[in-house]
Formats: sequence, C-alpha cells, structure tokens
Amino acid sequence: MSKEINDILKNDHRDFDHGKLEDNFGSDPIKLFNQWFQYAFENNVQESNAMIISSLGEDGFPSNRVVYMKELLEEGFVFYTNYTSKKAQDIENSDKIAALFFWTEIERQVRIQGLVKKVPEELSDMYFNSRPRSSQLGAWASNQSSKIESREDLEKQLKFYDDKFEGQSVPRPEHWGGYVIQPKYFEFWQGRPSRLHDRICFEKKADDSWEVFRINP
Ligand SMILES: Cc1cc2nc3c(=O)[nH]c(=O)nc-3n(C[C@H](O)[C@H](O)[C@H](O)COP(=O)(O)O)c2cc1C
Repeated sequence: MSKEINDILKNDHRDFDHGKLEDNFGSDPIKLFNQWFQYAFENNVQESNAMIISSLGEDGFPSNRVVYMKELLEEGFVFYTNYTSKKAQDIENSDKIAALFFWTEIERQVRIQGLVKKVPEELSDMYFNSRPRSSQLGAWASNQSSKIESREDLEKQLKFYDDKFEGQSVPRPEHWGGYVIQPKYFEFWQGRPSRLHDRICFEKKADDSWEVFRINP
C-alpha cells in the first residue's frame, strides 16, 4: 500500500450513528428485507439493488462480484447473468452461495447465505425481452469470463450480432438467464455508536420457520 493510502486510513475514525433499529423484527426475514430495502430507497441509497455474491470455485477458492438483484420473489433473490461465466461454473460446482448488500448512506449491511438455482426459462425470457436492445446484443456478444484477444474482437462480435438480428427482435441466448438465491440465513446489521452495532440473525429451521436471534457486534 502507498504511504498516501495509509495516511488517509490513519485519520479515518468514522463512528456510526444513523439511528436505531425498529423494535420488532418480526419472524419473516424477507418481509424485514423488504422494509430495509424500502428504507434504503427512501434515503436515496445509491445502487441499493447491487449485491455482492460469493461463489465457491472447484479449486476451493471463493470469489465474489457485484450483480444486480432484479427481482425479489417469495422464494428469494433473483439476478441475471451468463450461464457459462466463472460464477456459473462455480454454481455448477456448489449451489452454496453468499450475498451481501451494503448500504453506506444508512450504515447498514444485509448478509445472506443460501442455495442457488436457475430460474424457470419463462422468467429469463420475460426479463430479457424487457431489456434494451443494446444489452440484449451484449449478452450475445460477450462470452463472459473467458479470455479475449482485444477490445476490437469484442466490438466485432457485437457488430456481428447487430447485423444478424437486424430488423428483428433479439432472442434470449440459451447461455443467458437468471438465478434465484433461496436464503437459509440472514444477518441484518445496523451501525451504532461505540461500535455496539446491532446484528439480528434469522436461521431457517427444518420446518421452514425462522429462528431469530441477536449476536454480538
Ligand atoms: C454495479 C454492478 C452491477 C453488475 N451487475 C451485473 C449483473 O447483474 N449480472 C452480471 O452478470 N454481471 C454484473 N456485473 C459484472 C460482474 O461484477 C462481473 O464482472 C461479471 O458478472 C463476471 O463475473 P464472473 O467472471 O465472476 O462470472 C455488475 C458489475 C457492477 C459493478
């Protein structure tokens, strides 16, 4: 790390004091997540639907990246991607996944663990068809996560598919679609003064009910 970064960090003694949590967390974490997401939206949190997902590679290394949550179903959190990407290969290896929302403006994070699976094709079709043409073409042009010689090659690919689908609607490529993360564990974190943060957890039981408990900050 450069000296400049260390100088900056030395003086970074941020305290957390956005507010306290609601008094009642309820017994349904998806409902609570809805409330928190609404609150993030009302407080103009940037990119509130951006979540960091962590998958497990065959080599045992976790890797993470940002994706957009595009739907919240009763079943869980939906994102869309390329089914041959690194993350998709990881998911083939293990359906265990973690997701994280970090909302800096309101000093909150939500951590999720769960199992991930593909959404039904109709859902992927519906979402793909709602996307701008340029994004649809991008899904054809990019062989996500694989090596490529140059930027020009990528642009050539885009031009190829633009010509190919000229004058017609762009169909969803088979290699592109959604996944849903079915949560098993949640942690709702709220920053509080003196590092005495609130951490409220939900763990799914065998009978599908949720155990709610608080853990130390
Ligand atoms: C704000 C933001 C949103 C993103 N949303 C998505 C997304 O919804 N789907 C996606 O496949 N990649 C998305 N990306 C790109 C991913 O972070 C990542 O680069 C890509 O999915 C390839 O990851 P992989 O090689 O691990 O599969 C997003 C990146 C950022 C910074």
